[in-house]
Amino acid sequence: MSNEPFDAVEIIRAKRDRAKLSPEQIDWVVDAYTRGVVADYQMSALAMAILLNGMERDEISRWTNAMIASGERMDFSTLSRPTADKHSTGGVGDKITLPLAPLVACFDVAVPQLSGRGLGHTGGTLDKLESIPGWRCDLSNDEMMRQLEEVGAVICAAGTGLAPADKKLYALRDVTGTVEAIPLIASSIMSKKIAEGTASLVLDVKVGSGAFMKNEELARELATTMVQLGTDAGVATTALLTDMSVPLGLTVGNALEVRESVEVLAGGGPADVVELTVALAREMLAAAGKPDADVEAALKDGRAMDVWRRMIAAQGGDPDAELPVAKHSEEIRAERSGVITGLDAMQVGLAGWRLGAGRERQGEPVQFGAGVELHKSVGDEVREGDLLATLFTDTPERFARAQQAISGAWSYGEQAPARRVVIDKITA
Ligand code: URA
Repeated sequence: MSNEPFDAVEIIRAKRDRAKLSPEQIDWVVDAYTRGVVADYQMSALAMAILLNGMERDEISRWTNAMIASGERMDFSTLSRPTADKHSTGGVGDKITLPLAPLVACFDVAVPQLSGRGLGHTGGTLDKLESIPGWRCDLSNDEMMRQLEEVGAVICAAGTGLAPADKKLYALRDVTGTVEAIPLIASSIMSKKIAEGTASLVLDVKVGSGAFMKNEELARELATTMVQLGTDAGVATTALLTDMSVPLGLTVGNALEVRESVEVLAGGGPADVVELTVALAREMLAAAGKPDADVEAALKDGRAMDVWRRMIAAQGGDPDAELPVAKHSEEIRAERSGVITGLDAMQVGLAGWRLGAGRERQGEPVQFGAGVELHKSVGDEVREGDLLATLFTDTPERFARAQQAISGAWSYGEQAPARRVVIDKITA
């Protein structure tokens, strides 16, 4: 006879039959799963029941707290500056963390960005930064605190100690068709952010073909759920709903995206990347008590670039080093004339992934120089034969499948619809 207070089957049955789980049931099942008492196949069944039947606000909040309690909590309260963090739900060409962290740090706000690697068609911030020669992502908590105090911004790997229950559950969801459950996505993201200990958080919730959430209604529900969780935990949390139907900027791929981020830090870069960087910086600074900061000036006058250089150097990187370039390239040309009215983010992301910018299995190396450079995007007028994109890879046998993915990505018409980079803001 076991000494456990519940058994997994009764909890699975309860959620299957649409019952609300009690706080004690939730605490137990998350803890017992982390300890290995609840088996993977049982947690898979429960995750599917949650996906199908949902959870109420207080159930999600308790689930999040149980995942936080499975690991360590960090504490930035000893820093001399307030902390502000941003989390994006992920998209194609989303390099915003790179210019954003140093930009916000210009205003004496500490920006701890615990980032991840890409999986599937979306890129990962750590993979992008590792294309800078010498840069390393594994910092101890002490190194991280020192860098936050001295430079103001750090982008590094999340340690294994934060929300280990989520790590285990996320890997399980990935292979059981249960990633897309809003209660599970919200608790997964927010458990890590709350455990990390930031005082304020801005969420960039993406919507469109290149995002997890393909329609605005679902994205709004996810954003609202996460803002509620953050607020309930005492973290000043807001969310921007942002467009991911079109890739962000004109590059997709690790070194290519670093190059574009450096252009933004030099005061240039594509308008959508600048607009989103500025919008998120304003939100983060407002949440950190600095609503009047002149963010655009810090991009134009080189202050953000100075912090970037110090941030990269502090982690062993050489900000002046040449970035890796792929060995092979191939051009994609327009097959007709017209105005580009759409450019499908998912198809471009898939092409970048197939070229080697992403990985098919966890732990595989990525190709730093691989990816897509876009020459024409929504609103541009093209003539048949114009250059639309350049594909890059070290392994040319990848070109055919990448071309297959990207060839139909552009749509044409008479007039492009106006693009809203920031669709809405969600507050508590
Ligand atoms: N990112 C996470 O950390 N968790 C999810 O469930 C989805 C995206």
